[in-house]
Amino acid sequence: MIKKIGLLTSGGDSPGMNACIRAVVRTAVHYNIETVGFIRGFEGLIDNDFVKLGRESVSGIIHRGGTTLKTARSERFLTDKGLGMAVDTLFKHEMEGLVIIGGDGSFRGAIEMSKLIKIPIVGCPGTIDNDLVGTDFTIGYDTAINTVVEAIDKIRDTAESHDRIFVVEVMGRDAGLIALRSAIASGAEALLVPELKHDSENLIEKIKTWRSTKSSKIIVVAEGDESGGAFKVAEIIKKHCPEFDLRVSVLGHIQRGGNPTCMERVNASIIGFNAVKAIMKGHSNEMIGIINKKVSFTPFEKAVKHHQALNSDLVELIEILGS
Ligand code: F6P
Repeated sequence: MIKKIGLLTSGGDSPGMNACIRAVVRTAVHYNIETVGFIRGFEGLIDNDFVKLGRESVSGIIHRGGTTLKTARSERFLTDKGLGMAVDTLFKHEMEGLVIIGGDGSFRGAIEMSKLIKIPIVGCPGTIDNDLVGTDFTIGYDTAINTVVEAIDKIRDTAESHDRIFVVEVMGRDAGLIALRSAIASGAEALLVPELKHDSENLIEKIKTWRSTKSSKIIVVAEGDESGGAFKVAEIIKKHCPEFDLRVSVLGHIQRGGNPTCMERVNASIIGFNAVKAIMKGHSNEMIGIINKKVSFTPFEKAVKHHQALNSDLVELIEILGS
């Protein structure tokens, strides 16, 4: 019987993390398990900065973006000293399990900890990037793409009034999944993502065909695209097609905030609930996800080794519908 578990959020925050925190805590309460929340992810583990969490402490948070446990990209945890201190904290609390809500970097941390302490550690995929294998949607992705679509819709209004081209940069250092779905949903005319080879000649050829049409055009660029981002793309376009009226819009961190969508809250609740159940069943070093509406378990080793690939059907879709 598990009596006490730890909980933390780590890496970039994402909408829906609070819904997941709430689900973990309330499921634990239901099974008479105590939950200790560590503040600022691995930083809180290193410093033993914690808060005891009960049913009431997670009320009124399901609809809020960000993470009430706070988060960090901990540099100290990457050192042997930091890792050792974090593990010591778990021993000090006589922790019998740990739930980590975060992305691949956080799961790499979990793998390192599990070499030093033998308690069940499970992960909940929390990142707006959706780049983890083992789940159809990470916590935060659905809200982020809806935020992007809402922003591009607004950009479209002004672009249409002025017959302008807009190069819109969205988040995704290594992954173009935010760019791909939001480009389809906003009716974008072109897409540049890290997974697809950057071909500026092709892009320029395409833009030249736009000369005959007087209307707005949207090019969605993922920040990690090999072009170097929206401003670089704009430079190339200005050089080869100076007659176009062109503007750049970098959406930035608005993509990480905001109230989670309904789908996000439900998925995050399912994942948090199953994280506690998984610990009770003795699962360890696994990420909880949802694939085809079913709960799935993916070893951390696999989740950190592979990135979710772009769906080639969706790539074809944007190429045909956006042309
Ligand atoms: O968490 C994922 C992410 O939002 C990426 O899309 C982005 O590249 C990165 O985090 C930005 O991180 P930070 O807020 O630490 O600069």
